[in-house]
Amino acid sequence: MPKDFQVDKDASYLHITSNETIRGTQWAQFPKVSVPLVSDMSSDFMSRPFDARPFGLIYAGAQKNVGPSGSAVVIVRKDMIERIRPISPPCSNTPPLRKQSLHNTPACFVIYVINLVLKWLEEKIAGLEAIEKINREKAKLLYDFMDRSGFYRGTAEKESRSFMNIPFRLPTEDLEAKFVAEATKAGFAGLKGHRSVGGCRASIYNATGIDAVKDLVSFMADFQKKAG
Ligand SMILES: Cc1ncc(COP(=O)(O)O)c(C=O)c1O
Repeated sequence: MPKDFQVDKDASYLHITSNETIRGTQWAQFPKVSVPLVSDMSSDFMSRPFDARPFGLIYAGAQKNVGPSGSAVVIVRKDMIERIRPISPPCSNTPPLRKQSLHNTPACFVIYVINLVLKWLEEKIAGLEAIEKINREKAKLLYDFMDRSGFYRGTAEKESRSFMNIPFRLPTEDLEAKFVAEATKAGFAGLKGHRSVGGCRASIYNATGIDAVKDLVSFMADFQKKAG
């Protein structure tokens, strides 16, 4: 993670992706710059509290921690709305934002489910600070186990490690294929890494409980014993 950020003097904003799902990297602290930050927070929005003041625009596909796919959360500062170019397509040219009107028929089911998820987060989990603590604990369980194992190797740089997506490699690609196949049989879904980087990846979004991560660690330990 760069310590100092040089922003072009003509820049109007700095775009960052707060959590990158493929390589499993996450901004632990956001860069301090003189221009507004714009961020794709699709994969870690609602996983931790953060100070929204430096951001001019935040957008997040809802499908990770907020609700069903096909919806997105957009938080935009009022002064940024004035800067939207007229050539932008209607959905981002935001006449609804300007005129405080609705754009289309609201996606009622999606809004309903998002409400349920937010209620769960607030009432069952006790909010963002609580979910961050759980998320960090889950990632620590996996990373501590892998770092000790001498078999599984986390691929993200230590200080940039994401607590949402944990990519890792096994000693050989054959073992990785076997690991994913056996894990799938044992009920652990989606452990194959993104096709552009290969390897394996555990995505442990808010909905993944700590017990599921403990089960995965114990499956990984068993697999290592058999194969390592
Ligand atoms: C940071 C980030 N941006 C964008 C996307 C893609 O979202 P969508 O499939 O809604 O285009 C993802 C999904 O993995 C993501 O993690």
